[in-house]
Amino acid sequence: MKTDTQTKAIDVFLEENRRFPPQEAFRKTAWVQSEEIYEKAARDPEKFWAGFAEELSWIKKWDKVLDWKPPYAKWFVGGKLNIAFNCVDRWAKSSLRNKAAIIWEGEPGDQRTLTYWDLYREVNQFASALKKLGVKKGDRIAIYLPMIPEAAIAMLACARIGAVHNVVFGGFSAESLRDRINDAQAKVLITADGGWRRGKMIALKKEADQALTGTPSIQHVIIVKRGEFPLEIQEGRDHWWHRLMQNAEAYSEPEAMDSEDLLYILYTSGTTGKPKGIIHTTGGYLTGVYATTKWVFDLKPEDVYWCTADIGWVTGHSYVVYGPLANGATVFMYEGAPDWPEKDRFWQLIEKYGVTIFYTAPTAIRSFMKWGTEWPAKRDLSSLRLLGSVGEPINPEAWVWYHQHIGRGHCPVVDTWWQTETGMILITPLPGITNLKPGSATKPFPGIEACILNEKGEKSETGGGYLAITKPWPAMLRGIYGDPERYVKQYWSKWPNIYPVTRKTENTSLCNGVYFPGDGAKRDEDGYFWLLGRVDDVLNVAGHRIGTMEVESALVDHPSVAEAAVVGKKHEIKGEAIVAFVTIKEGIQKSDSLVNELRSHVAKKIGSLARPEDIIFSADLPKTRSGKIMRRLLKAIAEGKVLGDVTTLADPEVINRLKQQYEET
Ligand code: PRX
Repeated sequence: MKTDTQTKAIDVFLEENRRFPPQEAFRKTAWVQSEEIYEKAARDPEKFWAGFAEELSWIKKWDKVLDWKPPYAKWFVGGKLNIAFNCVDRWAKSSLRNKAAIIWEGEPGDQRTLTYWDLYREVNQFASALKKLGVKKGDRIAIYLPMIPEAAIAMLACARIGAVHNVVFGGFSAESLRDRINDAQAKVLITADGGWRRGKMIALKKEADQALTGTPSIQHVIIVKRGEFPLEIQEGRDHWWHRLMQNAEAYSEPEAMDSEDLLYILYTSGTTGKPKGIIHTTGGYLTGVYATTKWVFDLKPEDVYWCTADIGWVTGHSYVVYGPLANGATVFMYEGAPDWPEKDRFWQLIEKYGVTIFYTAPTAIRSFMKWGTEWPAKRDLSSLRLLGSVGEPINPEAWVWYHQHIGRGHCPVVDTWWQTETGMILITPLPGITNLKPGSATKPFPGIEACILNEKGEKSETGGGYLAITKPWPAMLRGIYGDPERYVKQYWSKWPNIYPVTRKTENTSLCNGVYFPGDGAKRDEDGYFWLLGRVDDVLNVAGHRIGTMEVESALVDHPSVAEAAVVGKKHEIKGEAIVAFVTIKEGIQKSDSLVNELRSHVAKKIGSLARPEDIIFSADLPKTRSGKIMRRLLKAIAEGKVLGDVTTLADPEVINRLKQQYEET
């Protein structure tokens, strides 16, 4: 994977347990230069957050910063604002009017730059077009687009008129799209004829058409013309984006949104077969993403900021669109793959556009390591001044490699921990003041209170346990769309009765006011947090969250499958890979073609990101006497580990047979 000299250099760093203090040149100009901010924010978090809210533009100022009735928080109560106005109009009507808001490059090499004024025009026109189609405040709009500027324009246009967007990652299958449209009861779908990935066209409209056979709530479909992709148009329902824009008015009044009005729904995987629609609202969300983008990335007007996340994930929402644009930043966006046409595409883009801040995922960094240092070495990366990582724990080796070979030893690396649910970064270094330790996300952002609790809810100062967030924060989720009971159960009742705020909610679940993210973590002697991955049945495959139950449901949906159990195994590049243990129905023959069929079936049901790496056929699955599948044992088999206690199994022989069989494959 690495050359000898690379390995040596990294090992030296790690053996010496080296810290990376901020460099003086960076510290001197950073937004945050003093540790005092932690104490100041902790003393009065509401005042601290209100300070950031004041940097935004409000139609009506709030009456109260926080109304906290666990597990429901309202931030900036009584305040009114419009997010699109904050992200676009503010700058289009200022001296930043001609500054690039979005610089974009398509995979084939086509380029577009939208100044803040251009973005203002596009967002206004598209907002008018949506209104003309009858879209009103509160309507849900599904967005299924490639990484093109229209994705950001569509989101901002929804925010402008108060429609609620529900972005679905372009890599999800028709069925996943259909489920999300139906759960949200979306009225309009915005898609494209296609997009480019590794030189191939991804036919989005064609995929969407399959979804649209079962989505009665959809009244209109808007199609961006990305290329010459073949497609079918259904008269009356389907409209070309460019045609609508030609007939749209130039200006659309921004809707005065209540601070707690819905901004978006974003679906994410959980511990059941059905993804959850995470709800985010307006005032608190914008304050949280504005503040963290500014301080974590130390964002300045002259920066060219590139977050490689797709718009379909929360990172694309908070740190491609809302956070950076609320800061008046210049955002770089790229449509395609990092290794197309060559493995230096990202480095070539950084060189070409003078990118200064680069934010990506550990799985990508591990691929870059594998491809070798010659690719970044060929390019001038001297414009970079800060690097970020998100999505999964970054192994110290990858951290040091990133710091050395991409950051050339002088860029701080901010490892940022957060989730779809948290909406904003919660645990992170502040690049001007934090002594970095490779592999640690370091400390909670000022104003955030986190700790490690054990099963009983007791605090652990330096040991391991469950990560817990003990105070509300502005961009926190406000619920699960249409499922308040699950919201309480999933996030707020891990430790009933331990906190003074424990109370019964309307829907009778116990809530303790402590947020349980589902991650394991430990703290070291300096109080730094080390994230250890999920503690529930959720996998993190190449930075994507996938529920084991989702994949299991997809597998048992196949006519040949009787039962399935899915676990994750460690994977060098992806972090985790999916292994499925499958029992087939009587009379069905095991074969390689069935393996392929099952893998494709999962890809069809969910998307290719969920395609299992290995499929193992098994006559039985290891179960407890009460019938619960013991995933712990399956995981141990998949990872070739010692099995541990098997005495609770109904039939201990099952596991031995399975182990033997797995070792033989
Ligand atoms: O397990 C944590 C991991 O990703 C999960 C959240 O996934 P998602 O909602 O898809 O959002 C990803 C982008 C924010 C978390 O529960 N995770 C995310 N960032 C980190 C991380 N694990 C360790 N270190 C991180 N920096």
